[in-house]
Amino acid sequence: MRWTRKDLLDLQSLSADEILAVLDTAREFKAVGERTIKKVPALRGKTVVNLFVEPSTRTRISFELAAQRLSADVINFTAEASSLRKGETLKDTARNLEALNADFIIIRHSAAGAPHFLARVLGAHVVNAGDGAHEHPTQGLLDVFTMREKKGRVAGLKVTVVGDILYSRVARSNVWALRRLGAEVTLCGPPTLVPPAFQRMGCRVTTDLRLAIADADVINLLRIQHERQRKTMFPSLGEYTSLFGISRARLREARPDVLIMHPGPINRGVEVDSDVADGGHSVILEQVTNGLAVRMAVLYLINGGESSGVAN
Ligand code: CP
Repeated sequence: MRWTRKDLLDLQSLSADEILAVLDTAREFKAVGERTIKKVPALRGKTVVNLFVEPSTRTRISFELAAQRLSADVINFTAEASSLRKGETLKDTARNLEALNADFIIIRHSAAGAPHFLARVLGAHVVNAGDGAHEHPTQGLLDVFTMREKKGRVAGLKVTVVGDILYSRVARSNVWALRRLGAEVTLCGPPTLVPPAFQRMGCRVTTDLRLAIADADVINLLRIQHERQRKTMFPSLGEYTSLFGISRARLREARPDVLIMHPGPINRGVEVDSDVADGGHSVILEQVTNGLAVRMAVLYLINGGESSGVAN
């Protein structure tokens, strides 16, 4: 399948076929990454700019490496050292990058909708690397890729997402992709962070962790996003951990083959104990590895590539 999209802004608007095209293409790129020569010429002559106006470790480095593996030239824009600090607008900044022949702008921004705005004003391809509490589409894709790789399917999987759902762009992107591919999604956390309105996205909503994890094939744990919360959403971190943290004892109440996932960064001892994060059920670092293949697939498909041509 050939993608016809100029940009990747969210997963809400993607069809199941478009999501599956990314997953299938990423599988091919993962195989390329296991070869001695890991580079392909698909984006030779193209310029990719990482425009990160919010901190990132995994996503920024993963996009940088993905672009390099596709033979693109890569520019890492550092917001703190840029003229954004002198009052230049995001639009002017991005248009100047385009004037320097940027073909792709990968943007992370604290404002929901910033990538959509840039996509309207730029001819360059725009990829959303996380916008406020709205969406983090490549994280959603790499999470679904990892589930499909480990469990052999997505349709019918029972996936429980635990934590700060309200402020989580990862949760929203997971829900859109998982529901589109036929998984059953349960959202669990304190009532202030998991409002019943999420049921309208086709999810089961509960505050009972025991119920939420009992029959789950996958438990995806989220960080408390203190940077986005405008008020205290629960009494204390200690209380949060005792009710919603996953310890080894808690894990015994889940299925023996359950997968533990986390998008990172982890707050060890809060949403997950170290012996679970580093234990046999955890695929947290495999998610990071898969993120590289997924981001290569996204850049490749947006550039007009087809899955069958990946290995050349
Ligand atoms: N998962 C994720 O987005 O991590 P970073 O903030 O480090 O990119």
